[in-house]
Amino acid sequence: MPRAVLVLVILAAAPACDRSKINESKYREAGAAAVAPFKKNLKQALLAGLEKGPINAISVCQVEAPELAAAASTSVARVGRTSRKLRNPDNAPKPWMQPLLDRYEADPGDRKPAVVAIDDQTVGYVEPIYLQPLCVTCHGSTLSPELEAKLKELYPQDQATGYDAGDLRGVFWAELARD
Ligand code: HEC
Repeated sequence: MPRAVLVLVILAAAPACDRSKINESKYREAGAAAVAPFKKNLKQALLAGLEKGPINAISVCQVEAPELAAAASTSVARVGRTSRKLRNPDNAPKPWMQPLLDRYEADPGDRKPAVVAIDDQTVGYVEPIYLQPLCVTCHGSTLSPELEAKLKELYPQDQATGYDAGDLRGVFWAELARD
């Protein structure tokens, strides 16, 4: 057998050393579990905030969302939210998230939670966030003038309007420690 072919055969026979391969179902489960408390607490905080009016609820998203993300993050998993159309530039996608956001956007038929090997130590997890009717108040096409003014003041580069209920809004993400 020519040497080049032999080398290829040996490489192909050594999948255990290929760190780009991950146990997808295991990390999908771990990712879903990691983002679950963040999702739940964020929704509860938003609903409680909206009871006192949407202007008041802006502070839930602005102040509490990052705090809740930090609280839901542990030494083995960090969590957060991102989008292709950002309200807060601090939520910008990290490089590993961008292709997944693009894929979800391009293919509405394939929006299952996804995992990807980021490096030797970390696996990335994303799941889609869809716009619900209650989100339209602050992310829809027509906002109340008062709300629009407040958002413009806080987020001069706001891109996160013009959505309808059911639209893909972004993703929840998790960075999980690999074993
Ligand atoms: C009361 C107004 C309000 C409502 C209602 C609201 N949001 Fe937001 N949303 C905001 C604000 C303000 C931010 C920016 C938060 C920050 O500074 O991190 C934001 C940020 C986000 C982000 C992070 C990405 C980005 O653009 O910065 C996502 C994703 C998001 N919202 C989805 C939703 C969804 C889904 C709902 C409904 C369940 C919702 N929002 C309801 C005001 C709102």
